[in-house]
Amino acid sequence: MKVLFLCLGNICRSPLAEGAFRHILAEQNLAATLVDSAGTGGWHVGEPPDPRSVATARRHGIDISAQRARQLHADDFARFDWIVAMDDDNYHTAHARRPGGDRHQHARLVRMADFFPEDAAHDHVPDPYYGGPRGFDEVWALLTSAMPRFIAHVGSAGGLP
Ligand code: 4NP
Repeated sequence: MKVLFLCLGNICRSPLAEGAFRHILAEQNLAATLVDSAGTGGWHVGEPPDPRSVATARRHGIDISAQRARQLHADDFARFDWIVAMDDDNYHTAHARRPGGDRHQHARLVRMADFFPEDAAHDHVPDPYYGGPRGFDEVWALLTSAMPRFIAHVGSAGGLP
């Protein structure tokens, strides 16, 4: 199972999603062959996650500080089984960038919000970049609320042991 989490800058939301997903897989003794995150934009390529994301993950015992931002590549549509977009903008951008060739039809493009509980306060993972630290806590809560259903979904699709 190869999963790519996608946001705009790859420094706030998708690094947290990657960290949370890796952590839950490890806790449950599940295996994924490749887990990564990327941004549709390239402004922060090569940078570590935003310090507010690093701090949020750390409060939950997860170290995401070694991650480095990168931009979504055409090849990601062939390499990954799942591309999980944090919001509708990221989803539509990825959809529009999917190359036409057969091998690039491989990745299934979904929204993180597809896996939110019914009573979630949002229908996307809100961009916390310009807000205060509470936005990062909200992102964390949304991501972790979605992970059990996401893992069940990718598992039932035959990818997890
Ligand atoms: P992210 O947040 O997409 O969750 O990583 C953002 C990071 C940077 C910018 C926007 C959103 N930016 O405009 O640089």
